[in-house]
Formats: sequence, structure tokens, C-alpha cells
Amino acid sequence: MCRRLKFDNIMVQGRLRNGKLIAAKVLSVESRQGLKEFMNELMAISNISHGNLVSLYGYCVEGNQRILVYNYLENNSLAQTLLGSGRSNIQFNWRSRVNICLGIARGLAYLHDTVTPHIVHRDIKASNILLDKDLTPKISDFGLAKLLPPNASHISTRVAGTLGYLAPEYAIRGQVTRKSDVYSFGVLLLEIVSGRSNTSTRLSYEDQMLLEKFPEVTNGVLLLQTWMYYERGDLEKIIDSSLSDDLDVAQACKFLIVGLLCTQDITRHRPTMSSVVGMLTGEKDVDSGNISKPATISDFMDLKVRSMRRENNLAFAPSNRLISTIMAQASHSSSQETTRSSITFTSISDRE
Ligand SMILES: Nc1ncnc2c1ncn2[C@@H]1O[C@H](COP(=O)(O)OP(=O)(O)OP(=O)(O)O)[C@@H](O)[C@H]1O
Ligand SMILES: [Mg+2]
Repeated sequence: MCRRLKFDNIMVQGRLRNGKLIAAKVLSVESRQGLKEFMNELMAISNISHGNLVSLYGYCVEGNQRILVYNYLENNSLAQTLLGSGRSNIQFNWRSRVNICLGIARGLAYLHDTVTPHIVHRDIKASNILLDKDLTPKISDFGLAKLLPPNASHISTRVAGTLGYLAPEYAIRGQVTRKSDVYSFGVLLLEIVSGRSNTSTRLSYEDQMLLEKFPEVTNGVLLLQTWMYYERGDLEKIIDSSLSDDLDVAQACKFLIVGLLCTQDITRHRPTMSSVVGMLTGEKDVDSGNISKPATISDFMDLKVRSMRRENNLAFAPSNRLISTIMAQASHSSSQETTRSSITFTSISDRE
């Protein structure tokens, strides 16, 4: 049984003979490495197990066709449920958001500080956070950077969907460290507390007014707005207004400050993910003494846009239109045909 989960990409839902529901990701036809290296990388990923990471069930390889098989998660991604335009009927109360933030932080801290050699995710964003039936968050697509062709794992073609989550040093110099994941996590934290997407192009009147004040900002309006409210001492204004009964305003503001700390321009000013876990659980104090304006897209967009324009051979267009063009191009270029049914499935282990 097979059903497409995503049309412009290569994700399908299926059912194994044992009745198990799976999600299968078809990797680029043009593979980055030979079969042996691919399997070695896969084995490394499959040995990594944590309650907040999606588990890999198996893989299929035939010619250039490579498919990763994951356990299926019932409640889709944060991008579709919490931040999606249609919003789902799932109620994300404050308690569930705290669990989601903490779970993602724990999963990332595990990849950064427990796994050896450590893994930098490179693509932390709402669509890579999946939710199981109990709304436990599971980070997906970790370790994929090593399996994908360089142009697919690098920001040049993937920047469109990920724009608002990119750390400046990653966007400008392609410098990937654990601290670039911390930056992306910070953006995600702000999104979960505010219920708003940092990468949304549909802006409220207030956001449009803010952008008029900062015309060079083409994205990252949530980050900018959180900073503005922080400076005014009005941080609670950014909390999702749909939260009511169980909302703990002081805790929500603390989470927002942690988000601002994670998105600091200077990487050494960003906490490690293990410290973030401590701050979110309350075991560690949140030291906001030296906090400064987080790095927004405006600080580095020009550079990136210039290099993307070269790569994509784009003519000049006003910034917002340019971004839409890049987004359209990127999603078009990532379209691929779906799986071939003749491929044999190899189970890595029997995880239940
Ligand atoms: N294990 C899974 N269980 C259920 N749904 C999944 C699973 N993995 C992915 N999906 C769904 O498929 C969608 C697409 O996933 P996919 O990883 O292909 O794209 P993406 O995360 O939007 O972007 P990117 O290609 O940059 O990772 C996810 O947003 C989610 O809705
Ligand atoms: Mg993904």
C-alpha cells in the first residue's frame, strides 16, 4: 500500500507485509557516494536511538535509487499542525508545547553531546519535527547531510524552505557547527511559543508595519519582533494568543529569552543544546545579562541572495519577489519521480 505524503518531493506512506505503517523517503537519483559508503552511513544512523529521534527501519537500494524507510508518525509535522495555514484540530496547550520544546532540545543535545562522533543536523525546522500519537516530538532527517549529494544538502538549493532558520555563518560561509543547529532550534522555539512561522510570507498588518521600519528585512520577522518586544519589556505580547487555561506566562517568557540566546549573532554567545535543556527544565539559570539583537536575515541576506542569483542565474527582482522566485525554483528542482515497486526492502533491525 502506498500513498504520497508530499507532492513536490519524494516522501511516501506505505505498509509493510507485517502491517507496520512506514514512511519512505526517496533520496536523490544522483547519489553522493558508492553503495558501501552509503551503507556505512546508514548503519551509523540506524545505531542512533533516542526517544526524540525518528527511527530508521530499513532501506532500499537499486542502481541509483535509494530509499530510506522510517516508522510512520501519526500526527504529521509541526509545520503542518501547529504552524500550517489550515492549522489542524490538534490542541497544542501550553503543557504539550513545553513537552515538544523539551523533547526537541533533548534529541538535539543527544546528537550533539552524546553521539560520537557528534552529528550536526543542519536542517532543524518545523517540517523536520514529527509528532507521534501522544504528541511526542521526533526529529527527522538527522544524518542525511552525509547521504545527499553536496548541492542537495547544502543551502544553495535547500535555502528556500529553510531560509528563516539559517544561522548567518552557515548562510554566508557554509560553516556548519553544532551552534548553527542551536540557532535553528532558537527560531523553532520562538515559533512554538508564538504559534507563528518565522518563514511565513503572509504577514499581519502589524508585521507589515514593522517591515516598513526595517525595509531591508526580507524574512525572519518573528525574530525581529520578539527582540523588539524584549527590549520594550513586553515579551508576553509575542505568546500565542490562543493559549489560555494552562499557560504559564513566566515560563513562556523564559522560553522566548532562551530562543533569543540561541539566535545570537556571535556563536560563542549561543548556549550548547545541553545547557538549553537545563534552562528549559529550570535546572539552569537563564543568563540574559549580555544578550543582544539576534542575527536576522537582513544582516546577511544580501550576500546570500547575490550568490543564489549567480547560481540560479536570476535577474534582479525586488527582494520579496526574488524570494518567491527562488522558492518556486527550489521546489521545482527538487521534484522527482516516486519509488519503483520492484525495489527490495532491507530491514535494518526489528524495532517495535
Ligand atoms: N516518518 C514520517 N511519518 C509520517 N510523516 C512523515 C514522516 N516523515 C516525513 N513525513 C511527512 O512528509 C513531509 C515531507 O517530509 P520531507 O522530509 O520529505 O520534507 P520536508 O521536511 O518538508 O523538507 P526537507 O526535504 O527539507 O526535509 C513531512 O513534513 C511530514 O509531513
Ligand atoms: Mg524532512
